[in-house]
Amino acid sequence: MSAVPDESSAADRDRVIDARASKDDLDVEGALRPTTLNDFIGQERVRAQLGLVLAAARQRGSASDHVLLSGPPGLGKTTLAMIIAAELSVPLRITSGPAIQHAGDLAAVLTSLEPGEVLFLDEIHRMARPAEEMLYMAMEDFRVDVVVGKGPGATAIPLELAPFTLVGATTRAGLLPGPLRDRFGFTGHMDFYEPGDLQLIISRSAELLGVPIDDDAAAEVARRSRGTPRIANRLLRRMRDYAEVHGDGRVTVPIARAALELYDVDDLGLDRLDKAVMSALLTRFGGGPVGLNTLSVAVAEESETVETVSEPFLVRQGLLIRTPRGRVATQLAWQHFGVAPPPGVQPTLLT
Ligand SMILES: Nc1ncnc2c1ncn2[C@@H]1O[C@H](COP(=O)(O)OP(=O)(O)OP(=O)(O)O)[C@@H](O)[C@H]1O
Ligand SMILES: [Mg+2]
Repeated sequence: MSAVPDESSAADRDRVIDARASKDDLDVEGALRPTTLNDFIGQERVRAQLGLVLAAARQRGSASDHVLLSGPPGLGKTTLAMIIAAELSVPLRITSGPAIQHAGDLAAVLTSLEPGEVLFLDEIHRMARPAEEMLYMAMEDFRVDVVVGKGPGATAIPLELAPFTLVGATTRAGLLPGPLRDRFGFTGHMDFYEPGDLQLIISRSAELLGVPIDDDAAAEVARRSRGTPRIANRLLRRMRDYAEVHGDGRVTVPIARAALELYDVDDLGLDRLDKAVMSALLTRFGGGPVGLNTLSVAVAEESETVETVSEPFLVRQGLLIRTPRGRVATQLAWQHFGVAPPPGVQPTLLT
C-alpha cells in the first residue's frame, strides 16, 4: 500500500523515478548504451524484426527501409537508432522535430547527407507541417523541391538526394499523419520491459560502472524500475551511492531496500506523476470518469505528458482504464492507495 502523496510535487522534474532524461542521465547514458543489436536486451519482437530489416539491407547493399520507433520515454528508441547506424556501418546524423520549424531546415539536413547515412529524427511528431510534406517526397523518391523566391515569381528547384535511411522516434505515434506513417517500411512499438530483462540490464550496467551488486538486489531494483531501462540505470546509481556511504560498496538486498525507501520508490515503481495522477483521480474525482484535460490541470502537468508518460504505465499496471467518458480508477487502484471509494461508487474490476 502506498501513501497518497501531495499533488503539488507533480511538477517537480528532479525526480528519482521519472522516465524522462535528466542532465545527470545524459552524462552517463552514452557509456551504458548497448552498441549492437545483440547487446540490446529485451524487446524480442522489435529486435528480431529489425534484425531482419537490417540483414536484408546489408545483403542487398542498399539503404535500409525507413524505421519508425514508437513508445514511452526511456525504453531505448535513441539507443536503437544508434545501433541501426552501427549495424549498417554508416554514419548517423541526429536531429529532432522541434529543431525543424521550416522546410528549409530540413532541406539543409537532407541535402548534406552522405549516401546510406542514417538520419535520426527524434520527436518526429513535433516537426512543422511544411517540413513534413517535404519529408514525404524525400523518403519516397530521395528528392526534394526547394522553393526559391516568393509569390508569383517563386520557382521550385528539384534536388536529388543521396539514398538515406530515416529513423523516426516518437512517444506519440498516433499523432503522425497517415501519409508519413505509411512511408516507414518498418514500425517498432517499444513496450515496458519485463522485470527479468531489467535485471539483466541492471547487471550489465553494474558491470560497466564497476558496481558490485547481488543478483537478488538487482532483481529487487528491476521490479521497481517502472519497466524502464533509464529508471533502472538511474536507480542503480543511487544504490551505488547508498552502498558506498552506508556499506562497503556492495549493493545487497538490505542496502537496496533501504535506498529505495529513502528515495520513496513505490512497490509498483510508480513515480510522483503517476502517484499524483492517481491521487487526483481517486480523491478529487471520486475515481472518475474524468477527462484527460481536467485530470492534467489537477496535477499541473501538460495533458501530453500525462497521456504519454504516465497513463501507459498506469494502464499497464491495471490501475487506470481509459473509457469513452474519461479516465477511471480500477478496484486495484483503490486497494493499492488504501483509499475507500465514495459511497455508491462501484470500483471497476479488471478482468
Ligand atoms: N534494451 C536495452 N538494453 C540496455 N540498456 C538499455 C536498453 N534500452 C535502453 N537502455 C538504456 O536506457 C537509457 C535510455 O534509453 P534511450 O535514451 O534510448 O531511450 P529513449 O526511448 O530514446 O527515451 P526518450 O523518449 O526520452 O528519448 C540508455 O542510456 C540505455 O543505456
Ligand atoms: Mg531518445
